[in-house]
Amino acid sequence: MALHALLDLELSVPDPDALVGFWTGLGMERTDPTTLGTADRPSQLRLAESPYRHVSELRLACSDESDLVDIRARLAALGVDSTMGDGVLRCADPLADHDVVVEVAEAPPLTVPSGRVVNRPGELARVNRRSSAAVRPTPAPPRRVGHVVFGCTDVAASVAFYRDGIGFKVSDSVDGGIGTFLRCSTDHHNMLLMPAPVPCMNHYAVEMDDVDAIGLAGMRVVAERPESSVYGIGRHVLGANLFWYLLDPQGGMFELFADMDQITDDDLWAADEYRDDWDPFTIAAWEPGPSKPDFFLPADIDQLAEARAAARR
Ligand SMILES: [Fe+2]
Repeated sequence: MALHALLDLELSVPDPDALVGFWTGLGMERTDPTTLGTADRPSQLRLAESPYRHVSELRLACSDESDLVDIRARLAALGVDSTMGDGVLRCADPLADHDVVVEVAEAPPLTVPSGRVVNRPGELARVNRRSSAAVRPTPAPPRRVGHVVFGCTDVAASVAFYRDGIGFKVSDSVDGGIGTFLRCSTDHHNMLLMPAPVPCMNHYAVEMDDVDAIGLAGMRVVAERPESSVYGIGRHVLGANLFWYLLDPQGGMFELFADMDQITDDDLWAADEYRDDWDPFTIAAWEPGPSKPDFFLPADIDQLAEARAAARR
């Protein structure tokens, strides 16, 4: 595919240092004063200051310069201006508060975590020793930012921008498109677009090694702020990923996820798995109980809307 990776996100918040402290506490590395990364990928979350919390830039990777030419032409056909030069295309999302940057770039490969030996019924693979899941003293660090979810005032128009302009592919649609899962890599989704009264970020998602890494990191978050758990642990239906949704110290929801469906053959997925009629309440294969209401819309949406309006005047 022309697009092949989500490289990183720029997140703008009133107090970026609070997020630096939070994410380094969970094992991300500060690779420059305003950038958080991982051992494999030094830039995952770039932080900037803004009076209101929002994604300010989305950086994607494509294969070669001809992809940029194609994207620029498709955007022009949609009436969206872009600039291009030195292997980088940039445009503003016409319906949201962030720029989209597409670069001719490679996403560095991810180091495979050392496999945990697991016992299953009828298959005793770990005997006479304790599981590292039980005795590992420190949580495994986050591995990469995998997706972002935006609340949109016109989901169909935003889907058209990302699918027909930027070149994302649609993996699944809820109720004919009211919620649309899109990918720019082999991940089932790198973006979900869903309705909201004002453009906003619903959540950003960080991939973890496995369910134990999710559990250990999430527990550290709730140990400090017990009210920060929004939903989880559970397993989604669309994307099939394990999830735990929590709030960061700037009120932004993030998801710790693992084990997402991967799509390497677009035609096979389209023929065998794609559906556009998912029930809006098809959320989890299993879950500990219902989500808090801010799973669907930030609890501070009114303040966000006010601060956004003031900042953009
Ligand atoms: Fe998610």
